Amino acid sequence: MSETARLIIGENAYEFPLVKGTENEVAIDVKQLRGATNGVITIDPGFKNTGSCESAITFLDGEKGILRYRGYSIEELAEEASFLEVAYLLIFGDLPTRDQLSKFLADIRDNSIVDEEVKKILDSFPKSAHPMGVLSSLTAALTAFNPESVNVDSEADMYNAIVRIMGKLPVLVAWAMRKKQGLPLIYASERLDYVDNIIRMMFLKPHKEFFINPIIKNALNKLLILHADHEQNCSASTVRIVGSSHAGLFVSIAAGISALWGPLHGGANQAVLEMLEAIKADGGDTKKYMAKAKDKNDPFRLMGFGHRVYKNFDPRARIIKKAADEVLNDLGVEDPILEIAKGLEKEALEDPYFVDRKLYPNVDFYSGIIYRALGIPVEMFTVMFALGRLPGWIAQWREMRLRKEPIGRPRQLYTGENHRSFVNIDER
Ligand code: ACO
Repeated sequence: MSETARLIIGENAYEFPLVKGTENEVAIDVKQLRGATNGVITIDPGFKNTGSCESAITFLDGEKGILRYRGYSIEELAEEASFLEVAYLLIFGDLPTRDQLSKFLADIRDNSIVDEEVKKILDSFPKSAHPMGVLSSLTAALTAFNPESVNVDSEADMYNAIVRIMGKLPVLVAWAMRKKQGLPLIYASERLDYVDNIIRMMFLKPHKEFFINPIIKNALNKLLILHADHEQNCSASTVRIVGSSHAGLFVSIAAGISALWGPLHGGANQAVLEMLEAIKADGGDTKKYMAKAKDKNDPFRLMGFGHRVYKNFDPRARIIKKAADEVLNDLGVEDPILEIAKGLEKEALEDPYFVDRKLYPNVDFYSGIIYRALGIPVEMFTVMFALGRLPGWIAQWREMRLRKEPIGRPRQLYTGENHRSFVNIDER
């Protein structure tokens, strides 16, 4: 293959270098396009064909259904690793040694205190507030309580910012849930590991003995790993672009949380469960909802189906579907919506509309069923996604800053009015 791409505009031909990734993906390097062509730009709403950066964190092949963090397959990580090991891997590039992992955990625990004043902000939110709104506000508020900006040229500064957010976010997540349930706000325990602490902070009841159910721990560990990163998705790109203005880590993460909330992104896990409940309440008629999803005059979409990148299958959905079966079985939970979900999947996979458009279940299709079996309220589903995605956002932010990427500032093609003269208000 030629090492350049040729672009012909009218009489003129231009050559642009091709760059290759480590998995042989090819990109046309258009950095010089505007300068060379006297102002021509590319236009690509939704970035369907545009790489925003080079990255060494996550590789995914949507056609083959491959997902790897730093080279390790998602299947192996979900089976073998702890969430904190995966977090370390994503952020720093390699699996930690035992010593590195214990230091990381100890540093995170040492930094998990959230200023008591933050409770006043939490108190000022209405009880009806969605926990995602609460989480994104409180994460942004952390900046006010931790005003020192991160010196990204100092490894120690960077590390401290990372362990601070890794320590504090689970506390905020648990507080958002406990506040809604009228439970006292608590902190992490220094005796527990990262995932055990999440479970304890979310579920501890003041009047009950607390113990960790290994089934719940394993399931949560797996879900957090499966959500930990997904290269340049909407929220990760948001974190990178906000951070590219040299805004701090906490606000960049807060922006990522807001981006994740939308129903086309992380908010889909809540939307899936609500959809499955609605189908159940409507008599379980999956065919009716399949027809609605295919009707172009109906805004209804089959939530949890389709993906911008996966056009074969989402490997995370496979793992989660199996885990949903196991978790419900192990916990002895019978949830009729699991059967509705399986029925919908079967119909969709045989339906030409979905087959032709390569629409498969995505990570969110089955995750809500597990969260519900674990006793997590529906409004917390996207919050759980945020908790899992935190290391990915940190890794993306850190990589962007270490690579000294320029500020993110896309171009546009102006299609508005040409120059016109001001018209006085009485003459309009
Ligand atoms: N139900 C019905 N039709 C769908 C669905 C769906 N879930 N998803 C896509 N389509 C159709 C579109 O109508 C379009 O049809 P057309 O070609 O006849 O116009 C075609 O499939 C392509 O869809 P696009 O929206 O162009 O695909 P895009 O890559 O922009 O969107 C997205 C991907 C947002 C995930 C989309 O599939 C969707 O809305 N899915 C439902 C929401 C969801 O589950 N989001 C979670 C994604 S995973 C995550 O963020 C963690």
